Amino acid sequence: MLSKAIETALNNQIKIEAESSQIYLAMACWAEVKGLEGVANFMYAQSDEEREHMLKLVKFVNERGGHAKISELSAPNVTFTSFKEMFEKLFEHEVFVSQSINDLVHISLEERDYASHNFLQWYVAEQIEEEAVARTILDKINLIGDDKGGLYLFDRDIENLTVTSASADGLQ
Ligand code: FEO
Repeated sequence: MLSKAIETALNNQIKIEAESSQIYLAMACWAEVKGLEGVANFMYAQSDEEREHMLKLVKFVNERGGHAKISELSAPNVTFTSFKEMFEKLFEHEVFVSQSINDLVHISLEERDYASHNFLQWYVAEQIEEEAVARTILDKINLIGDDKGGLYLFDRDIENLTVTSASADGLQ
């Protein structure tokens, strides 16, 4: 049985994962209309992953005697000044999500909820990977700068990154 404190914290995380999915969906749309198909596909896949993260939490809360709350979401940014800015936002968002997961782990220990603590370890590992992918992309974007040819190659190569990331993901 979940305590009220952990149920509230898990429900907050459900909202964060749902908002993450919307944020990346908006990024996918922006990249698609800008003609970068590889980047768009990467972002669509990221968006799907975030929905899976949300669903995993929803089912866990309901299975443990809580009630998963499906709430209204904040509207995401839909336009960006550059691809660099968009990927900076992605990285910053993943750092924020990692912090939120850390806070959740902290609460699970305070509540002596070892089942939730164990469950959350999957998210701890996932955040390491998500941050690493975002950092790798940002490094590449910084190397490319404003070079159009570099962006073209990046758009082609990022699709391989999607495959690696998806196959390393335990949800598939
Ligand atoms: Fe579910 Fe990218 O955090």
